[in-house]
Amino acid sequence: MECANPTYRGMESAVLRWVVALSCGVCVLSSCTSMPTDPQAKLIAKGKEIFFNERFNGNGRTCGTCHPLQNNFTLDPAFIATLPATDALFVAEFNPDLKKNFENPTLMRQFGLILENLDGFDDLENTFVMRGIPHVLALRTSVNSPQCPRTGWSGDGAPGDGSLRSFATGAVIQHFTRTLNRIPGVDFRLPTDEELDALQAFQLSLGRQQDLTLPLPLRGTVPKRGQAIFLDNGLGKCNLCHVNAGATANFGGGNIGNANFNTGVENLPDQPARLTGENVPPDDGLGTPGDGTFNTPPLVEAADAGPFFHNNAIETIEGAVAFYNGQAFNNSPSGRALAAGDPNGIGIRLDATQVVSVAAFLRVVNTLENIRQAIALLESSLDTHGMEAKELLDRAMSETGDSIRVLEGGGLHPEAAARLQEAKRLTKKANRSIFFRRKLTREAIEEQQRARAFLVETS
Ligand code: HEC
Ligand code: HEC
Repeated sequence: MECANPTYRGMESAVLRWVVALSCGVCVLSSCTSMPTDPQAKLIAKGKEIFFNERFNGNGRTCGTCHPLQNNFTLDPAFIATLPATDALFVAEFNPDLKKNFENPTLMRQFGLILENLDGFDDLENTFVMRGIPHVLALRTSVNSPQCPRTGWSGDGAPGDGSLRSFATGAVIQHFTRTLNRIPGVDFRLPTDEELDALQAFQLSLGRQQDLTLPLPLRGTVPKRGQAIFLDNGLGKCNLCHVNAGATANFGGGNIGNANFNTGVENLPDQPARLTGENVPPDDGLGTPGDGTFNTPPLVEAADAGPFFHNNAIETIEGAVAFYNGQAFNNSPSGRALAAGDPNGIGIRLDATQVVSVAAFLRVVNTLENIRQAIALLESSLDTHGMEAKELLDRAMSETGDSIRVLEGGGLHPEAAARLQEAKRLTKKANRSIFFRRKLTREAIEEQQRARAFLVETS
C-alpha cells in the first residue's frame, strides 16, 4: 500500500530523504495484533523509556513533556499551571533561539495550544496552526484506515508513509529542535529505526486494544437514554462517524475505518484562542493546501481529556455534544450531508435534556474505561515489587481520580463515586504499606468492581 503524505512538503529535502528511507512506504500497523510475547514486552518497555526520557539531543523536551503519563497523555491549562517555569514545555519563554515562531506562550498557558507547522517550515511567521494535544490512548483502534494510517487531528501529522511509526520523526523535527534551522545532527538527532519500532510498540500498548460493542447494559436512567440517542441514526447520528463510541465510520455500507470529515469546527464563532487577539491562522485540515477535513477521534477516552476538538475550542463534554446542534456544524459539509439524508431535512438537532444525556453516556463509558484500566493496574501491581509496584498504584489512583471527577462533573452515579473514593483511599494506603500492600490492593479492586456494578449490569 502506497501511503505518500502531502504534508512536510516545504521540509528540507535532506530530512525528507531520511524520513522516506526510514519509512519505506510500508503501513505496518495492521500486522501488530498478536499477544505480547516476552520480546514484545521488552520492546514496549524500551519504547516507554524513550517516550519519557529521550531528548534526541534537542531543546530538552521529551514526548512525555506534552503527553504526560499522569495526565492521560495530554495537556490542559490546569495541568500546565502546575509545571515549573523551567519545564522544557516552556522553552519558548527562556530560550532566545526559540522565542519567535516556535510556540505561542500565551495560547499555550491559557488554552493548552501547541504550534504546528503542518504545511512545512518555509514561512514560519505565517504558515502554522494552533492545535490541542491529543491523548495517545487506544491508537490501535483509531489509526488505521483503508487509505492510509491517520495520525494527528487532520490525519496527516506523520511525514513519509503517514504511519504512527513515522509520526515520532515528525514530532522530533517539530517540537525538539534547538533552533528554527531544524538541521538534523545539529539541532536534534532523528530517532533510529530501533527507536521508532520501540516507540510505536509502546504507544500501541496504551489504553483500549479493541472497540466496545454497543449498546452496553447501562443502569443509569440518563446515560442509558444518552446511549440510545447516540446510537439512533435518525436522532443523535453520532454512531455514523463514531461507531461504538470509537473513531471509525459506518454509513450502512460497512465500516470505512478512521475517516476524515469537515464538521465545521473551524467556523465556530467566539473561539477562545481567537478572542485573545493573538494570531491564530485558519486551520485548513488535511493536506497542503488543506481540504478542511479533520480526523475522527475516539470518544471513550474523551470525557477526562478535554478541552475538545483540534483547536481546544470547547471546555466541557456537554459543550462538545452541543456543538452538533449549532450553525457551525449544520452548515458544514457533514451537517448538510446529514440533512440531505434526513426525512425532515435536519442535520443534528438535540434539545438540552438530550445534549446532557449524550454527555452523561460519554462520561459513563469514560468512567468504565478508567475502572478497567485501574483494575488492570492494581492487578499487575500484585505481581511486582518496589518502585514498579508504586508506579502502578500511583497510576491506578490517577485513573480513579479521573473516574470520580468525570462522574461528579455530570452529577452522575453518586453511589459509584463513593465506592471509587474508597478505592482511592485503599490504593493510597496500599502504596504506603509494607506488610498489607497486597491485601489492601485486593480490597481496592473489589471497590472498583462495586463501583462498576452501579454503572452497568454485570453478568
Ligand atoms: C510540544 C508538545 C508535543 C511534543 C513534545 C510531542 N507531541 Fe505528540 N502531539 C502534539 C500535538 C499538538 C499533536 C497534534 C498534532 C496534529 O494535529 O497533527 C500531537 C499528536 C501526536 C500523535 C497523534 C495521536 C492521534 O491520535 O492521532 C502521536 C502518536 C504523538 N503526538 C506522539 C508523539 C511522540 C512519539 C512524541 C515524541 C517523539 C511527541 N508526540 C511529542 C504535541 C506534542
Ligand atoms: C460526520 C461525522 C461526525 C458525526 C456525525 C459526529 N462526529 Fe464527533 N467528531 C467528528 C470529527 C471529524 C471530530 C474532530 C473534529 C475536529 O476536531 O475538528 C469529532 C470530534 C468529536 C468530539 C471531540 C473529541 C475530542 O477528543 O476532542 C466529541 C466529544 C464528539 N465528536 C462527539 C460527537 C457526538 C456526541 C456526536 C453526535 C451528536 C458526534 N460527535 C457526531 C466527526 C463526527
